Amino acid sequence: MKQENKNYMENNISYDLNEHSLISPLDSESPLLEPKIRLGVLASGNGSNFEYIIKSIQNNQLNAKISILIVNNPDCLAIKKAIKYKIPYVIINHRDCKSRLEHDMLVLKKLEALSVELVVMAGWMRIVGEEIINRFKNRLINIHPSLLPSFKGIDAIQQAIDKRVTITGCTVHYVQKEVDSGSIIIQAAVPIKEKDSKETLKKRIQHMEHIILPLAISKVAKKIRTSFKDKK
Ligand code: GRF
Repeated sequence: MKQENKNYMENNISYDLNEHSLISPLDSESPLLEPKIRLGVLASGNGSNFEYIIKSIQNNQLNAKISILIVNNPDCLAIKKAIKYKIPYVIINHRDCKSRLEHDMLVLKKLEALSVELVVMAGWMRIVGEEIINRFKNRLINIHPSLLPSFKGIDAIQQAIDKRVTITGCTVHYVQKEVDSGSIIIQAAVPIKEKDSKETLKKRIQHMEHIILPLAISKVAKKIRTSFKDKK
C-alpha cells in the first residue's frame, strides 16, 4: 500500500509516521460504539502500549472503556500508568498460584466479573491457556514485535537482527493455542537501518505498535458489536 504522506490522519489525529513506515490494512475507522466497548488489558512490563490505548481513548480515536488492567508482575511499570490515569487494576501474581491453570482461571474470573468484551494482551509475558482462549474466541488479541509469521516467540527484535533482515515490524493478531500464530489483524513494517542497535530498532517498532494497537482494537470492537447485532 502506498503511503504518500508522512503524517497519517485518523479521526483528526495525526500520527507522525516515518517516511518509510507502512501500515496495512489502513481501512480502520473509529466506530461510535454505544455503549463503549469494555476492554480488559493484560500487561507484564512497561505498559507503554497500555498507555497509548488510554491516550487513544482520551483523544476520541478509540471508542472504548478500560474496565480493568490485569498484571501478573507486582513490580511492572504498567501499574504506575494505571494509577496515573485512574484506571482500575489488579495484580494476579502467577507466583502465588500452584499452576498455570489456576492463574488463568483467576484472570478469567476477573474478566468475566467485569463483563469484559475484548481482551488486549499488551506485553503480557505469559502463554494463555485454552480456557481463556475459548471463552474469548475472536475477542482476545496480542501485539508482537515482528512481522508475523516471522520471528515468533521471545526476543523477536533480536531474532530479526540476527537473521539480517532489512525490514521487520509489528503485528496485532488474534490469540490461538499456538504462540503468535492466530489470524493477523494489522501490521506495520519498520526498516532496519545499518546502524541500528536493538534499542534504536525497538524504539521505532514500539512507535508503530502504539499506532496500530488502537486501530486493531477499533477494528475488532466493530466486528464484535456487529456479530452481536446479527445474533439478535
Ligand atoms: C511490546 O513490544 C510488545 O510487542 C511485546 O511486549 C512489548 C510490551 O511493551 N509483546 P510495553 O510494556 O507495552 O511497553
